[in-house]
Amino acid sequence: MEEIEPIDTYIYEEVNSTNSIASELAREAFKRPILVVANKQTAGRGRMGRHWYSPANSNIYMSLVLKLNAMVLYPELITLYSAVCVWQVIGETVKESLGHLWIKWPNDLYWEDKKLGGILTESLYSAGKPEFFVIGIGLNVNSDKEEIQRQTDLVWTSLRAETARDYKRDSLIAGITGTILKDLYLLSEPDRITKMWKERTRTIGARVKVITGNYEFEGLAEDIDSKGHLIVRDAFSGDRVTISTADIVHIR
Ligand code: BTN
Repeated sequence: MEEIEPIDTYIYEEVNSTNSIASELAREAFKRPILVVANKQTAGRGRMGRHWYSPANSNIYMSLVLKLNAMVLYPELITLYSAVCVWQVIGETVKESLGHLWIKWPNDLYWEDKKLGGILTESLYSAGKPEFFVIGIGLNVNSDKEEIQRQTDLVWTSLRAETARDYKRDSLIAGITGTILKDLYLLSEPDRITKMWKERTRTIGARVKVITGNYEFEGLAEDIDSKGHLIVRDAFSGDRVTISTADIVHIR
């Protein structure tokens, strides 16, 4: 039998953000990986300072805290790796997702042109170095599509909206946690992670608009480098630009 690594699990009815609670718990005492799950978030956070709409009783809000220092070559890859793991678990659970589910750079889960979930990875520093990584995963599972759509400006969906079935959140959470913990050694092999990620994305080869805090431009997304940064050929200047943090919009 495969050995299962013990983890400390905390389940809450309501929290502000599972990422915030997970960080507090890790700072208080970290003995082994920590998993925080909530039924509802009142201040769920998305990337780029956005709010993550987190109604009760329907979706997954989970944060996993890991301590990985030595083996992590590039912390950015944790997020790409986690997106691949979530993709895989959804694929195993929801057969209809195959061919529809893809990862938008860096870590959004999309069902065709609708957002299904996202990942916010935060680092907790000690003496100037990242000590813990908090992988926060939000996945729309059983929520009513119309309800979510009223709350956000992106085009959203949920597993139930796509397949007309409800899913057990516990099994998905257990699957995602187990899958992430199982192959963490891959974080020391960037090329394997970027390869797996590239097999599941539609961003590479797409025309994209890159939006950062300071500027915007359009171009062709050509590749990711071994840190998971996106390489975009600027349509105007012809330059190859490496993007570490930004929002991208796929242009048709
Ligand atoms: C994104 O912007 O796409 C990332 C969204 C991440 C949301 C999850 S929900 C669980 C965890 N707690 C948070 O406050 N955010 C993440």
